[in-house]
Amino acid sequence: MLGNRIGISILLELLSEEKQQFDIIFNDVDKEDSPRVFRIAIPKLRKGGLFVTDNVLWSGKVAQKNPAEKSTKAILEKKKINDYWRMGGITTTAVEDYIYSLLPPRDEVLAEMETEAARHKVPIVGPAVGRLLYQLALMTKAKNVFEMGSAIGYSTIWWARAIAGGGQVIYTDGDSNNAARARKYFDRAGVSDRIAVKTGDALELLSEEKQQFDIIFNDVDKEDSPRVFRIAIPKLRKGGLFVTDNVLWSGKVAQKNPAEKSTKAILEFNRLLYNSPDLFTTILPIRDGVAVTVKK
Ligand SMILES: C[S@@+](CC[C@H](N)C(=O)[O-])C[C@H]1O[C@@H](n2cnc3c(N)ncnc32)[C@H](O)[C@@H]1O
Repeated sequence: MLGNRIGISILLELLSEEKQQFDIIFNDVDKEDSPRVFRIAIPKLRKGGLFVTDNVLWSGKVAQKNPAEKSTKAILEKKKINDYWRMGGITTTAVEDYIYSLLPPRDEVLAEMETEAARHKVPIVGPAVGRLLYQLALMTKAKNVFEMGSAIGYSTIWWARAIAGGGQVIYTDGDSNNAARARKYFDRAGVSDRIAVKTGDALELLSEEKQQFDIIFNDVDKEDSPRVFRIAIPKLRKGGLFVTDNVLWSGKVAQKNPAEKSTKAILEFNRLLYNSPDLFTTILPIRDGVAVTVKK
């Protein structure tokens, strides 16, 4: 663990001298040195290991136009963005701009799906959350993923590209037109062989499954959230991840007396996620809020 207490050079020297590679390196040293830390830390990480860094949004100063502070410049790297996927209201607009500006361009198929989603108002997770899904599958070496609510298959492709060899993603959607469009994208993305497409009610389809899953991704209508919880958790293996999109619901979860059925359902759902002793949950405030739950 790289902490703030001793001189940074000594800390970096200590890490440089390490002969072993680490499963996790946690970086919490002075921010001016971030690029140097990066160069020293990455080679000391085993393949599949995690490099975790605190303060990367730096009280929002990463979103300043021309930051003067050395520490902010060290954290920063800016690019132009396309902002369709953003929800607004969770992180400040400038910070969200910054997060999207970091994303590398997507391949032709995902980029086209993003454009189609924007044109036809298909509520896809977008690239910031897509990357998170990819990373979760990679970190856990997931092989089988059940996706509830797949639309045109955008998030499905992120999962399919991350799962381990021989794995499978189950696509589900209630709309067969969506499934037909998704199939075409899967072919073009070269991932059809690892995706099973199922149409119908995702909750019923999951109930019928005999196997347990490494990851269940929940992106169906929010009114059903508590019912999804009760169906999904028993279908998750121990150590598996239950991932849910939109758990901050454009910030409406913070309303004093929400009237909307969907908001009430999400509030109950989030309480279930946090209060169940056999689960451990963290909500990541990316885009519209993503809950990542591990089954203990
Ligand atoms: C938010 S979109 C999914 C987006 C997709 N996960 C992505 O990011 O690319 C929700 C989809 O879930 C489908 N849906 C909603 N409730 C469902 C249910 N109970 N069973 C099956 N599909 C459902 C809708 O038809 C819609 O296409």
